[in-house]
This record gives sequence, C-alpha cells and structure tokens, in this order.
Amino acid sequence: VPVVVDARIKADPSADTISPLLYSGFLEHLGRCIYGGIVDNPKAPSPPELLDAQGDGKAGWRKDVAKIVAADGELAVPMMRWPGGNYVSNYHWQDGIGPVSERPKRVELAWLTTESNQFGTDEFIDMCRANKWEPYICLNMGTGTYEEALAWVEYCNGTGDTHWANLRRKNTGRDEPYNIKYWGLGNEMWGPWQVGNVDADTYGKMAKQWAHGLKLVDPTIKLISSGETGWSDWDREVLQHVVPYVDMHSLHFYSTLFHEFYTAPGNDYEKNVFGPAAPEKGIQICKSLIDLVNIDNSQRGVPAKDVKICYDEWNVWDQTKARPDEGLEQIYDYTDLLGTVAWLNLLVRQSADVEIACIAQSCNVISPILTKPDAILKQCTFYALQLFSNFMRDGHLLQTPSMPDYYDGLTWPLFIQQVHCNPRYIDMCAMAKQDGDKLSVRMSVMNRHPSLDWDATDLIVGGVQVDKVTVHEMYSDDLTAANSWDEPTKLKPVVTEYSAAEWAQRSHTVRKHSWQFIIVDGK
Ligand code: AHR
Repeated sequence: VPVVVDARIKADPSADTISPLLYSGFLEHLGRCIYGGIVDNPKAPSPPELLDAQGDGKAGWRKDVAKIVAADGELAVPMMRWPGGNYVSNYHWQDGIGPVSERPKRVELAWLTTESNQFGTDEFIDMCRANKWEPYICLNMGTGTYEEALAWVEYCNGTGDTHWANLRRKNTGRDEPYNIKYWGLGNEMWGPWQVGNVDADTYGKMAKQWAHGLKLVDPTIKLISSGETGWSDWDREVLQHVVPYVDMHSLHFYSTLFHEFYTAPGNDYEKNVFGPAAPEKGIQICKSLIDLVNIDNSQRGVPAKDVKICYDEWNVWDQTKARPDEGLEQIYDYTDLLGTVAWLNLLVRQSADVEIACIAQSCNVISPILTKPDAILKQCTFYALQLFSNFMRDGHLLQTPSMPDYYDGLTWPLFIQQVHCNPRYIDMCAMAKQDGDKLSVRMSVMNRHPSLDWDATDLIVGGVQVDKVTVHEMYSDDLTAANSWDEPTKLKPVVTEYSAAEWAQRSHTVRKHSWQFIIVDGK
C-alpha cells in the first residue's frame, strides 16, 4: 500500500505554520551550563582566542559555543529561557545587577552550590542581543516575592522616569528598555524538591494575582503558567484558575529512566525511543483541558482564551548517567538520538498547539554539546536538532500516515500504558515549504523496529515536481555507540543526494532502528 505524504498547500497557507520557537534553548545556573559552558570559568580558563572579552571584571563568553547556539549559528536557536529551572525558585534578581565586584555570593538551594551572581540580567540580555535570541525569563515564585517580580519587569521593560527603569539606565548606561516579552510564572511549582512548593489551588490563585499585576507594569508581555505533564491533576486544577489570565501553559517531561519509571517494566531501548509518546498524549490532553475551561468559562460570560502550550523543558535524561552531583552531564548514545528524534517528531506534529519548546538544556547540562576549556564535543543528538532547526521551520505541517504495526513483540513501558497510547514503529513528521515558486518537502522518518528494516519504496511525495532529493541518514548497528572526546565524529549523518530520475527508480529502505531526514526539493 503506498504511503503518501501530500505537499499540496492547504487553502489557508497561514494555518499550521511550524514556528522556529520549537527549537528554543534553556540556560540554567546549574553545573557547567553557564560558568564553564557558555561563559568562561576562571578556575579552568579557556585560551583568550576562544573568548569574547566582556570588560568590568566579567568572565569572557565562549565564541565557539556561541557559534553553535546563536540564532544564526549551527543550531539556529531562536529563543533562550533563563535563569532556571529549579535554580530560579531561590534566585533574587537584584543580586545579579550592578558592579560585578560588589555582587553577593549566595547559597544556592536547588543544586546546593554557591552562586557568584557574575552572570545576571544585564549580561543575559547582552548575550541575547549578541546571539539574536528572543529572551524568556522565568520568575521566582518560590522564595521570590510578588513585589520583586513587578520590579524585575519594570527594571527590564520600564520606559518612565521611575526607580527601577532608572537603575537599569544607571547600570548599563543605556536608555532603551529590554522589551522582554516572555515571562514564566515560576518553575515546576508542583515539585516537592522545589523551594516554595505549593498545592495547585494555592499556585493557581497566586499565578492569577501575579499575572494581573505584571500586566499592569507592562501590558504587552506574555505570561506562561507553570504546568506539569499535561495529564496531571496539577494541570487540571491550575488551568481552571489561570486560563483567562495567561498566554501559555508550560509542560515539562524527560523521557527514559526517570522517577518511578526506573522500575517500570520495559527495556531501556523501548523506554527511550517510544517514551516520547507519553508527552505527545500529554499535549493533546492539556489542550483538551484548556478547551474545557474555555467552554465552562464561556457559559459564565468569561471570554475564551487561546492558551498555547510552552514545552519549556524537554529532553532525554537518564538519571543513572546524568546525576545532580556531577552537574547532570550525560554522554548521549545512539538510542538517545532516536529518543531525541521521537521528541522532535512529536513537537512538530503538535505544533499547532505548541508555540514554544525549549530543549533542556543548551550547554553541558543534559545537552547536545559538551565543552572542555579548549574544545567542544557535538553529541549524536546535536545532528537531529541541527537538521530540524534548520530545515523543519517556517513551513506548513503535512499530514503523515499512521502505519499499521507489523510486529507486536513489546510490552509497553508502564508510563506509556498509563496514558493509554499505542506508539507506532514508523514515526514521522513532514512539512512543505514554498520558496518563491519552488515547493519543497522535508520529512523526518524513523523506523523504531528493533530488528526489521522498513521497505519505504512506496513512500510517495505528492504535489512536488522533484528536482533533487537529499537524504541525511543516521544509523548504527551498535545501540550503545556514542561520540566521545576520543572519537568525536563516530555518529553523524551520512548524506546521499539523488537526482529526480534516480529517486524515481530507487528502492528505498529505512533500516531497523534508524532515522532519515529527507529533503525533497521541487523544480
Ligand atoms: O533541567 C534540569 C531540571 O529539571 C530543571 O532545573 C527543573 O526544572 C527540572 O526538574
């Protein structure tokens, strides 16, 4: 049976446009993400030629890291979330402004380290400007006060002759506001590990109150409430309070061995490559919860609000490998690459509802890149992000067929059973892009079957007059293979180009446990 991906553009070409913000990043004051990652660590300094000097006693910025994570860099990261994560729940932003030598060192309660406050709001904004990132700041709703949050927005966005706006002018010598549009209302406020963890009802009421005040300071900002998985009681209860007042609801999930999933049945391969089926279901459930609140509110005369999902922490994270006491650094293996592709496929498929997605995190901490003072290692997961971020954006989402399964040898891991989903072996997403009079189609096709190849000869792309086809394939026989400092390019895509005639005549296979990113360029 032919498997058809049809590129004929829908009647409304503005519908389902895949936003670049799906490929956003996240920098938390955790391990070597900031200090020793994107910023030099004076205790293990980088050679001066690798650093962008900052002056005023500030540590230099790593130019080689920026070349990867800048919006015009290899990973084309459009937006950056900061400063946490768990870290933000005890972060007082006023510690991180003013002369660097006068900033206080603080006990940091999320990861139990000492925070130097050398990198604060003004440095973050300078870095956003240098790297062309849209800034996204998460507020401290743990130990932070409502008043501090209002002051932070005024410090950043205030234009009047007022205390906090004037302090920004004094500290930076610049009059123009930062115009920070995206603000998160706390981080994982449901988590028992969180300083200031509260119940859903308390958080919902607080978030509504803070949203009201923050929008009085700057009515143009967009607010994001702190959500959980999308299918939890927390999400259900919080959304009932916040839907009319926020613009997005944040979700977090890390696939593979995590929390109670450590002991859940299912082998590691299955957990890793099928695990992202659970967050995909979570997005759909969360969207229905938002719809339900809107239906309910409309009946009481409250206007409906199109609240989108901000998936501001997603990734593959094996806690047995990336431990808090080691700064959450994980060497990603080939199975993790397939898990990452499953994540990217689902975020694209759900892009009508997901406005922002941030990989957690952007440097060293469960990250596609690892640094040494004088070098960078691109992990295998880097290549999935690179292809998606550069080629699967600013186009129209295409429907992809759901293939029947032809193998039923698995017991799904418990967390997949819990959310009642049934992931398929062939996992796809696709996009059409019109560039002048040229139409192209980009497809991500993954065969998750552990032992059978998929004959994809009948994978037909309709509606495009093919000029050439480029296939980027990642495959490894050894599921445990990984890039390392000794073998940094062991896993990377193999690129094959086909002319229209070659493509029409080929027989095409997507091998067992492998991934192809296919670009079909039209004439
Ligand atoms: O990304 C690592 C941590 O995971 C974040 O700090 C927190 O929000 C989540 O639990």
